[in-house]
Amino acid sequence: MLNFSYHNPTRLVFGRDAETQTGAVIRETLGKSGKVLVLYGGGSVRRTGLLDAVRSSLEEAGFTVIEKGGVQPNPRMNFVRDTVDWIRDQAIKAVVAVGGGSVIDTAKAVAIGVEYEGDSWDFFTGEAVPEKALPVFAVLSIPAAGSEQSTRAVITHHGDKIGIGSPLIRPRAALINPARFATLPALQISAGVVDMFSHILERYFSNTEHTEFVDGQAEAALRTILEFGPKVLSNPKDYDAWCQIGLAGSFAHNGYFGLGREEDWACHAIEHEISGWNEAVVHGAGLAVVIPAWMRYVSQFAPARFAAFSRRVMGVADTTDGEKRSEAAVIALGIAKFISWLQQMKLATTLESLGIGDCPIESLARHAVRKGPIGRLKPLSEDDVLAILTAAKSG
Ligand code: NZQ
Ligand code: ZN
Repeated sequence: MLNFSYHNPTRLVFGRDAETQTGAVIRETLGKSGKVLVLYGGGSVRRTGLLDAVRSSLEEAGFTVIEKGGVQPNPRMNFVRDTVDWIRDQAIKAVVAVGGGSVIDTAKAVAIGVEYEGDSWDFFTGEAVPEKALPVFAVLSIPAAGSEQSTRAVITHHGDKIGIGSPLIRPRAALINPARFATLPALQISAGVVDMFSHILERYFSNTEHTEFVDGQAEAALRTILEFGPKVLSNPKDYDAWCQIGLAGSFAHNGYFGLGREEDWACHAIEHEISGWNEAVVHGAGLAVVIPAWMRYVSQFAPARFAAFSRRVMGVADTTDGEKRSEAAVIALGIAKFISWLQQMKLATTLESLGIGDCPIESLARHAVRKGPIGRLKPLSEDDVLAILTAAKSG
């Protein structure tokens, strides 16, 4: 196991009516009230009443609220710039995101952008490192990206979808009422469930040894998502099932499952190429296409880890009809069971079935490795990425 230092200051307020505590929690965190910026997306939270509930809670706690909606899924840099320009001289005390990963990531980019004199895209190109940020708070409307507890923000600009990380942008508090997930469309439910599953996989598929404690926690979380994902998809009003998915999704990306080990992140890097190229691709739906092809390609380089995944997560037995299965058979069966689960979640598992069989895989592969090989379990070159994307085309 590797040395680590872990500090997760996100206060988690979880359960029915959690959003009604937004004002009180922010006031307690800041030690004062003042003017806050509330950001939201294309209008779902306005229609469901979540936005009104958050605004009332903030006003009751003495905050002055200014609002800006219109964040698009796979959020854009231009929206961040416009927002930074708008609030720069407004003495804003905090940014409150009401929505999912796209809104929260936009809030994070705004929070560092407003404390920086240059153009906020500099943080994403690596020309600048955030040194100061407004406090960010998240009221979650979709369990998926895990941004409500993560140190990451992902923004797209002219086809470049780039993620950055800084402890400064980890939300100070996340308010999660799983009853609010009942209004999600089926595709967002499925994609969100796969995204959180993948956030654990990106950490679980590691060459670091002697990580049994975190492995066991990760396997339990993965099994929970496998069990409850189909339940929330078939009955989005199942509050108890949402509680399991909501909690798993939030922990999936708060760093816990990566403690003491190298993380991979190749599937995310490849998926970001796809949804950067075509912003209509939902991140989790893109992952459902990339992960199976990545697993088939990379499992030969780390068979023991994939066999552990097959056995302990996908429930593959070592024997069949009294005969011992080979390790290769165990791995193949584990991957096949995972693909069946994706299909049970009603997701496409090839680029063609996702409707983007025409995607320019050569240029995406080239762009994916522009800063060097991606992934740690098996560092992937351009040829490797191309082989994975080729396999992802039609399965
Ligand atoms: O825009 P509105 O109208 O609000 O509709 C949204 C949006 O269309 C809708 N929605 C959200 N809550 C709803 C709802 N519809 C009905 N009822 C509700 N309760 O869902 C759609 C998707 O929203 P979005 O915020 O894009 O979803 P998600 O949370 O999956 O975020 C995806 C983004 O996060 C990035 C992804 O790349 C993508 O850009 N990621 C961010 C990460 C991070 N910051 O740590 C890590 C992830 O790996 C990921 O890359
Ligand atoms: Zn993700």
